[in-house]
Amino acid sequence: MMIKPLRKAVFPVGGLGTRFLPATKAMPKEMLPVVDRPLIQYAVDEALEAGIEQMIFVTGRGKSAIEDHFDIAYELEATMRERGKSMELLHQTRLKPGAVTYVRQQEPMGLGHAIWCARDIVGDEPFAIFLADELMAGTPGCMKQMVDAYQQIGGNIVCGYEVPDDETDRYGIVEPGIENGALVEVRGLVEKPRRGTAPSNLMIPGRYILQPEVMQVLETQEKGAGGEIQLTDAMAQLIGRQPFHAWRFDGERHDCGDKAGYIQANLAFALQREDIGPQVGAFARKLFGNHPAPREAVQLVDEVITVQLRA
Ligand code: G1P
Repeated sequence: MMIKPLRKAVFPVGGLGTRFLPATKAMPKEMLPVVDRPLIQYAVDEALEAGIEQMIFVTGRGKSAIEDHFDIAYELEATMRERGKSMELLHQTRLKPGAVTYVRQQEPMGLGHAIWCARDIVGDEPFAIFLADELMAGTPGCMKQMVDAYQQIGGNIVCGYEVPDDETDRYGIVEPGIENGALVEVRGLVEKPRRGTAPSNLMIPGRYILQPEVMQVLETQEKGAGGEIQLTDAMAQLIGRQPFHAWRFDGERHDCGDKAGYIQANLAFALQREDIGPQVGAFARKLFGNHPAPREAVQLVDEVITVQLRA
């Protein structure tokens, strides 16, 4: 079997971000920072680490801050240079000329539709997908782990992450088959199954490696859950026609599309930072020590802080 290298990644960033209003009224939700880096930067860094060369953003109206972020900020850089400031922090925002492509999704019709908008740029190659509001923290990174598996087995691979029973109705869920280490055979996929009907607790946290044939399926894909054209439904059509696996991610997942998850990500990432970790940790201890929060919550936060500070 010939395994084609994975060179391209699609980042659907056209979503409205209504869950973070008013913060996202005039700013794309993908630009929300975790400590000092926007969410989209974490996703692009994860792609670069995995050897991906071409970044394809499926964007929309009001999202031009993302384009500016990956461009040269001429006045800023000139001023910084004049003042002798280090440019190191801007290094990761500079991609190779021609390494980013933008295409607009004119109407929000669902994730499947957003991906389909990139069909001509993806062409006849396998491609990755990153949903930037899922912040995946791992060493190596999530996509690198998936690419290592892909180079062995090819086909389609989605990331898999265990969630509690009462959360399965929010996500795309895997119906698992035979397991081989972290690799799980995918027998079925279902988008946002009704409570009590999920085939497992293995959700898809927004990382995919797909073969280009999924674009042909998306071409005629009908609306699914929530009245949207669902990527999960299109992927399900490939099962049995092409190899399809899930990769159990070894690392931490932060759901930054959710306010609580976003704040937790900031806390976890801040605690890991050498420059601000000790200060934030001391503050958090003091805060939770004085706060009349339920005892379990205080214990949990204390455990997180202890683990992070030790790491
Ligand atoms: C999307 C996908 C879903 C996936 C989730 C991850 O859902 O449709 O399969 O599990 O992202 O965050 P959305 O969050 O857009 O409803």
